Amino acid sequence: MKSNKTYSIQQGIIDRYASIVDDKEKFRENIHKPLKKSFRINTLKGDKEDTLLNLKTYDDSISCAKWYDNGFTTKLDNLGSSIEHFVGQIYIQELTSMIPPLTIPNLNEYEKIIDCCAAPGSKTTQIADIMQNNGEIIANDKTHSRLKSLRGNLDRLGITNTTVTLRDFRSFPNTDADAYFVDVPCSSEGTIRKKNTIKKNWNEKDYGRFSKIQKGILERVCEMANKGNQIIYSTCTFAPEENEGVISAILETQAVKLKKINIENLKIEEGRTNWMNQDYDKEVKKCARIWPHHNNTDAFFITRMEKC
Ligand SMILES: C[S@@+](CC[C@H](N)C(=O)[O-])C[C@H]1O[C@@H](n2cnc3c(N)ncnc32)[C@H](O)[C@@H]1O
Repeated sequence: MKSNKTYSIQQGIIDRYASIVDDKEKFRENIHKPLKKSFRINTLKGDKEDTLLNLKTYDDSISCAKWYDNGFTTKLDNLGSSIEHFVGQIYIQELTSMIPPLTIPNLNEYEKIIDCCAAPGSKTTQIADIMQNNGEIIANDKTHSRLKSLRGNLDRLGITNTTVTLRDFRSFPNTDADAYFVDVPCSSEGTIRKKNTIKKNWNEKDYGRFSKIQKGILERVCEMANKGNQIIYSTCTFAPEENEGVISAILETQAVKLKKINIENLKIEEGRTNWMNQDYDKEVKKCARIWPHHNNTDAFFITRMEKC
């Protein structure tokens, strides 16, 4: 990909993925459209219907996502200064970021969860809401400066079942859990509709750098998980190097099986089995790709694995 100030990141993405997207025109059109603001209602702080009723006095066009009844879109861009936000009744979150906790059926019955790369806590707080503050969550992140917002969000949303740890997950001590969420650092290309910026230092080498970190984190998780434990890997990038490529490499060395992801009313494309002359393990078809033009969201990638 070119590296100069005038080459927009949108164009870079369109050029890079034109050959694998199902509808290039819709993709192009969608990627240039700003993303609608979205938020999640936190049921740990008040009744959902009451919160919604209050919010509708600011914007009566607020609407619920077709595939998640706690996820909403709004035309407001100042929800962050509403009283509902201050008191933790809502969490401003991209819709796609709400998908990983929905991939495990009956997550509310799980007793222990580790969120390996947790800051600022979008998914941790959502998981805690699903668990209704029961059980136990360990929310880990390796970046000290990001723990402040993680802790602040846990406090604001009334979360009491979560312990925060600061550690590079690649050296996290063996810790049993029923499920591990692995929302890794990535090239974040999929957030382009939100950020809408020109990236000055776009670099193909980023894909290799990120995929090395991603494999390291995921390997550590697979090593410490026990038979039957669930592992949810996610990124917000289109790049197969950081998605199917990472999963395919993990399948070569780790005893895990992939599980297909279905979420009613959410359009999901299956994982790609090749990219740039490289073939991946055919199992990666079970991974889930979320393209922006399919559900009018940003882009996302999720894989559900079970330790064998
Ligand atoms: C995509 S963000 C996580 C977003 C978070 N899961 C959420 O939903 O709010 C990736 C996070 O991984 C953290 N991180 C990067 N390398 C890590 C590592 N080796 N171990 C643990 N965390 C890491 C970063 O500090 C960053 O907060």
